[in-house]
Amino acid sequence: MDVFRVEGNGPLEGEIKISGSKNSALPIFAACLLTKEPVHLKNIPNLSDIRYMIEILEYLGAKVENPEIGEWIIHANTISHIAPYELVRKMRASVCLLGPLVARLKKAEVSIPGGCVIGPRPIDLHLKGLRKLNCDVTISNGYVYVDAANMRGSSLFLGGRNGSTVTGTANLIMAAVLAPGTTRIESAACEPEIIDLCQLLVKMGARIEQIGGPELIIHGVDELHGCEHTIIPDRIEAGTFICAAAITKGHVTLKGISFKYLGAFLDKIQEAELPLEISDDSITVLPYKGSLKPVDIITLPYPGFPTDLQAQMCALMSITEGISIITEKIYPNRFMHIPELQRMGADIAIEGSSAIIKGPRPFSGAPVMASDLRASAALILAGLAGKNTTWIQRIYHLDRGYESFETKLSALGAKIERLSEKDIPNDLLDT
Ligand code: EPZ
Repeated sequence: MDVFRVEGNGPLEGEIKISGSKNSALPIFAACLLTKEPVHLKNIPNLSDIRYMIEILEYLGAKVENPEIGEWIIHANTISHIAPYELVRKMRASVCLLGPLVARLKKAEVSIPGGCVIGPRPIDLHLKGLRKLNCDVTISNGYVYVDAANMRGSSLFLGGRNGSTVTGTANLIMAAVLAPGTTRIESAACEPEIIDLCQLLVKMGARIEQIGGPELIIHGVDELHGCEHTIIPDRIEAGTFICAAAITKGHVTLKGISFKYLGAFLDKIQEAELPLEISDDSITVLPYKGSLKPVDIITLPYPGFPTDLQAQMCALMSITEGISIITEKIYPNRFMHIPELQRMGADIAIEGSSAIIKGPRPFSGAPVMASDLRASAALILAGLAGKNTTWIQRIYHLDRGYESFETKLSALGAKIERLSEKDIPNDLLDT
């Protein structure tokens, strides 16, 4: 398996372009199943999760072309309704196939996605919504079976114990756009990725009102047609690179990202007094002397602080003078990065769903283990700021959601190299 060797190498400097959003692309690929006409997608990032989704779409019968880097044409002329365990288990977001299969074929058999290290990943709200649309939903031997012969529009509520559900909202929008009648979704997720999905669906002929708000009105239509769509940039990649620039006191410009996608994150970064220059399609992190200010964060559904930037902020606040408290409300045990950051010198105590971070504590390099996508990024950030060498194992987690991460970091002056785990010095592994 691949590992990263990261050497602390001072401030990052330069300019990079932010890639298309993973969490926008995945439901949008699933939405291509809603029409028998070709859908042409642009600004798609090259990620393992995208490759998994394409593998599943081809398995279902869609024809897939890749005319240019970042461009995909999905032509789901005839498709089957069964998404098997051996494909679905690779990626939780494949649960987004449920809505389009139900809408297009009026039936679906989709393996229930497993959990993951960040916590249980239930789909009870997805299924509750389908039942409200008069679908017959049963679960057996790890599969969800949906019979939607009598599906019709209805009112449904998507608020759960931890707020709304992003992929649940995506699934139910995709089911409702072809459901006879009108569907009202209350407590819908308002993430930019949901807005992007709705904008694609409207281009395909769907009738959706109040896009971007917590209450969506969807008037079912008989069929949808093909279209062309460029997906939005990845706000989580952008936030990750802002943290990378900040943790190294660098000077970095991110191109192709709008501040409007990063409201709560930028609010906290500015509270920490990180100097920024913001334009319509770029964000520049400026160098600073001394320390940032500590901040208290609570992760919440959009427009609150994104849980997907929590781990990166734990790393940044570890080198910041003062005490920061970061509370995780979406996935209460999404703290697998903390023990690894502690191995590198961080002083972080976990109290329930809060991490109490005391700084500044300089990072020192060590062999560490990535546990999930965003934890991997946090460990790399710590390595960039650390003295000497950090070896990060299991970086396949990172490849799921960051396009050319080490290439982009190297272009900013980072010393990061993708090697094999057999390159890790034995004496380091014996410790
Ligand atoms: C999406 O996951 C993202 N993934 C996640 O990003 C992100 O962390 C998450 O939203 C929250 O913002 C994609 O978009 C592909 P949820 P999703 O359903 O939709 C509970 C990353 O790093 N819940 O919004 O699966 C659930 O347990 C990934 O890119 C229910 O209780 O998340 C959680 O506590 C990680 N019942 C909360 O809601 C349900 O039926 C939010 O989950 C569904 C969810």
